[in-house]
Amino acid sequence: MATYNLMINGSTHAVEADPQMPLLWVIRDIVGLTGTKYGCGMAQCGACTVHFNGNPVRSCSIPVSAAASQKITTIEGLSPDNSHPVQRAWIAEQVPQCGYCQSGQIMAAAALIKSKPNPTDTDIDLLMQGHICRCGTYPRIRKAIKAAALLAKS
Ligand code: FES
Ligand code: FES
Repeated sequence: MATYNLMINGSTHAVEADPQMPLLWVIRDIVGLTGTKYGCGMAQCGACTVHFNGNPVRSCSIPVSAAASQKITTIEGLSPDNSHPVQRAWIAEQVPQCGYCQSGQIMAAAALIKSKPNPTDTDIDLLMQGHICRCGTYPRIRKAIKAAALLAKS
């Protein structure tokens, strides 16, 4: 066991954990932020996506020992009031069905429009290939990402 000071959503959390414990376990079970979901545990589905310094990463496959120097953002920290352009677009387009995959989708979309303010269909295809939605909300995700990119400029 070791102690790690994790910067999550702008606050420091001192956590005691095995160095190899996946960051996702720490975020959910120790810090208590349960918006980030467990899907595959193998970096395949995207449900566990959070940001390291604004870049999307799969928290199921990153040991907590590799997270201590990062600014971590989870879905709870994307905005204080659901006002991030991606959240607004997701609500307007009524994207979620069961919702399980959606925090990962939203975190990935937020990173995409930050790095590519004018995402192409190919950019969106690439994102969706790596983020599994068993409910098949892909057409609404595509619409919402395009709407979010416009909102981010307004
Ligand atoms: S739970 Fe991390 S990618 Fe599936
Ligand atoms: S909304 Fe159900 S898995 Fe995506």
